[in-house]
Amino acid sequence: MQPGAELEEDGAARERSRVPLGGASLERVNAMTAMREVWPEPASEPRALDAGGPRQAEEELRRSEYLYRTVASNIPNGAVALFDRDLRYMVVDGGGVLAAAGVDKEGLVGKSIPELLPAETWKSFAPLCHSALAGRPAKTEVQALGRTFSIHILPIPAGDGAVSMGMVMALDITELKSAEERVRRVNESLERRVVERTAQLEGAYRHLQALSAHLHSVREKEQARIAREIHDELGQALTGLKFELSSLAQRLRGRPGGLAKRAADLTALVDQTIQDVRRISSELRPALLDDLGLVAALEWHTREFAKRVRIQCKFEALGQPPDVDPDLRIALFRICQEALTNVVRHARAAAVRVVLDARGDRIVLEVRDDGIGISPAHAGGGSLGLLGMRERARAFGGKLEIESVSGGGTLVRAEIPLRK
Ligand SMILES: Nc1ncnc2c1ncn2[C@@H]1O[C@H](COP(=O)(O)OP(=O)(O)OP(=O)(O)O)[C@@H](O)[C@H]1O
Ligand SMILES: [Mg+2]
Repeated sequence: MQPGAELEEDGAARERSRVPLGGASLERVNAMTAMREVWPEPASEPRALDAGGPRQAEEELRRSEYLYRTVASNIPNGAVALFDRDLRYMVVDGGGVLAAAGVDKEGLVGKSIPELLPAETWKSFAPLCHSALAGRPAKTEVQALGRTFSIHILPIPAGDGAVSMGMVMALDITELKSAEERVRRVNESLERRVVERTAQLEGAYRHLQALSAHLHSVREKEQARIAREIHDELGQALTGLKFELSSLAQRLRGRPGGLAKRAADLTALVDQTIQDVRRISSELRPALLDDLGLVAALEWHTREFAKRVRIQCKFEALGQPPDVDPDLRIALFRICQEALTNVVRHARAAAVRVVLDARGDRIVLEVRDDGIGISPAHAGGGSLGLLGMRERARAFGGKLEIESVSGGGTLVRAEIPLRK
């Protein structure tokens, strides 16, 4: 048995000593002895006093101390200490940390923590120790010897439940910290790259939008020029031809060989060609759009559409659109054209309704059919037709939605804010 160790009634050996405390002294029970109480005895092994007497108890005590030292000394990169209510070290132990710091762990036992620590360190440490002695665990991080330690200070209750001492556990977390720092830096650099890439993508998207708007505008101008030429040149030539054929037909009247009839048939063919030329020219660039505005152009287009495809088509204008920008006029007209073309190609509809609502601070164009509806995959993605409609709406700060409606059919809705 260790010097100063006593055998108690329950057969456990406890090492007791007296720690000077002001004028008085405090009885200190070595924590290593406490291991004896928590280390289970093998069932077959007789209790110390019953079988082996003092010698066996001493053996047990040594074993306990050995086990405790093995645990405490092998805490990797850490140290552990117990302190009493007078803030004096009762036990100090640990792995490489204490040795690296040149700390004599045996020499610390019984020493006052406030006196040992530098005043500044103790100032931040004191509330934590007092907190633990008041029953509240505390933790902090400290920098010392160029390393970072995570410090936990825990209350250790005695048998009666009152806190009789505190335990300090210090873990060297320098490597962990630098790994965290590395991860933080990698994250930061990734976030920076994501922000840069997002800005690049947004820039590229803006350029594409500008390019798409420019291409639309160039195409519209080109179509307007071709429409004018077809209308003026071809239209005039055909009108002249029709006039000549009519007078020829008159002169041939009564001649044998059915010549007058052939001339009249040719006149009718030229008439039909004049109609076709007008239609083609109007589709390329409806003159109505520039001359009489959006409502008149949509009225004409929906009427022509109904005649051509035999789908009932109604147009309704709510409110009178203000003097909208010519580019916006043509954009809305093209959206309506593409939506109606889609109805013919995909909807299998019997009727379609086009509404232009220009009340308030926005202009809304709706094309609703009663066909088979659109699949969510097509509505979400779509190919060039839908993409073109969306881009045209976006170019004016608006949006285009396409969805199946309850009761069947598809609704295309373009909403564009009106600039005052
Ligand atoms: N009114 C509609 N009813 C049902 N399906 C539709 C309707 N409008 C579009 N769709 C579906 O959405 C798809 C995409 O339409 P989108 O206009 O983008 O392409 P498209 O008409 O097939 O070809 P294009 O690029 O020549 O216009 C169509 O292929 C069709 O399946
Ligand atoms: Mg289409």
